[in-house]
Amino acid sequence: MPAIAVSAGGGGGDFGGKVTLHVIICAIVAATGGLMFGYDIGISGGVTSMDDFLEKFFPEVFKKKHQAVENNYCKYDNQFLQLFTSSLYLAALVASFGASKICSCKGRKFTMQWASLFFLAGVLLNAGALNLVMLIIGRILLGIGVGFANQAAPLFLSEIAPVKYRGALNILFQLNVTIGILAANIINYFVANIHPHGWRIALGIAGIPALILFLGSLLITETPTSLIERQKLAEGMSTLKKIRGINNVDAEYEELVRASEMARQVKHPFRNLMKRKSRPQLVIAIAMQVFQQFTGINAIMFYAPVLFQTVGFKNDASLMSSAIVGGINVGSTIVSVIVVDRLGRKPLLLEACVQMFITQTAIGYILMEHLKSTGDLPKGNATWVVILVCFYVMSFAWSWGPLGWLIPSETFPLETRTAGYSFAVSSNMLFTFLIAQAFLSMLCTMRAAVFFFFAAWVFIMCLFVIILLPETKNIPIDEMVDRVWKKHWFWKRFMDDDDDDDRSASKVEMAMGH
Ligand code: BGC
Repeated sequence: MPAIAVSAGGGGGDFGGKVTLHVIICAIVAATGGLMFGYDIGISGGVTSMDDFLEKFFPEVFKKKHQAVENNYCKYDNQFLQLFTSSLYLAALVASFGASKICSCKGRKFTMQWASLFFLAGVLLNAGALNLVMLIIGRILLGIGVGFANQAAPLFLSEIAPVKYRGALNILFQLNVTIGILAANIINYFVANIHPHGWRIALGIAGIPALILFLGSLLITETPTSLIERQKLAEGMSTLKKIRGINNVDAEYEELVRASEMARQVKHPFRNLMKRKSRPQLVIAIAMQVFQQFTGINAIMFYAPVLFQTVGFKNDASLMSSAIVGGINVGSTIVSVIVVDRLGRKPLLLEACVQMFITQTAIGYILMEHLKSTGDLPKGNATWVVILVCFYVMSFAWSWGPLGWLIPSETFPLETRTAGYSFAVSSNMLFTFLIAQAFLSMLCTMRAAVFFFFAAWVFIMCLFVIILLPETKNIPIDEMVDRVWKKHWFWKRFMDDDDDDDRSASKVEMAMGH
């Protein structure tokens, strides 16, 4: 995931300053928020395919799974099992609204500390769960933690980063998400044979990144932007000097003060966001997130072990295959860090659309032809499914994964940036929830065609990128409106609308001496 470039200058200017040890420590600590998110994404699929876990909490699924005659496509279809996975994202969706307010009033560091505490409470309930209620309440607490962390940590990262390294730090968060997923895949693999409590270990280890975030957050400073936003000007100035490692930070400081003044004048950022002239950025931010989820990525991330068992792999082989997929996810995200500012956003997204369309169609075809309701896939075919899943994940990880977060963070003008970005975060959580809740039922009713369903979405998003998405590579954020939106063949028609927004109203008020 993501980052939002709220800090002053918005990417336009370069105020100097080095990447100091302090910035590195702060970045490592904040990025553990990504690890928490990723670990959750990766752990649930493995845990929900473990027999000890199923027998204890979902005896019906356990029975179905072991009935030789049970329909391959439906053996995991159980609303409660899906709720175990998806409840976290619903909680995160609700929590992210509250978190954005706390983030502004109390600061990013405070919000991250609370994120880790909620998360730790959730881990304790989950690892020690005696019944389904404890399990679901634990997931909800984890979700609140994720909602808080996902709001605060990316913001924190962008605000402490020197302007010219902000892109790299942005994708660092997503990189941590993928590392978290991989760690979860590997841990699932090793604990699957520890009976009967392996699943407790898998869920309990989630406490490690949360503990690092909590302890680490005692060491780090608040961001200068947040301090200045909350009128702690002197502290803001001294923090800025400390993290930049230079004494002359006047230009950046003034820019921060100016930006926070401007942002203060906009009394109703959400109302501003609803105006016609914000439509292009809002549509793009939401569409990027909705499309990111409709690539079907989380069908794989959450349910890869379940899916691999569906095609006939035994438990170990399926968990091992998921770990390989996790490794490819990390590696390809690193590729994105390296090439995104050279190749541009659109070429990566389009290449990925082609790769995802081909792989999903091929997976759908193999399953349709060879995976009947009962019996396993022939071994050769099952291996092909794993290879195709790897190529599919590879293309997602260098495109829609990081860019689904990066693009919404770099398109809004400052006055609507945080509000606009919170729409992106909540759209992601909402659609993550929907896919998590629906995928196993879709697999049961649509069978192999579920992959054609996602492939059709990939085709639509390819057209969307070609026709409606502007290229934002190398454009300073604060020049985005003039250089991108006002020039785009379609979106420019929304840009001439300079209606009475909050800012002009405030300017008038100021001019009148109020
Ligand atoms: C998405 C997650 C997904 C992950 C996979 C993120 O960008 O938001 O939903 O599971 O990438 O690496």
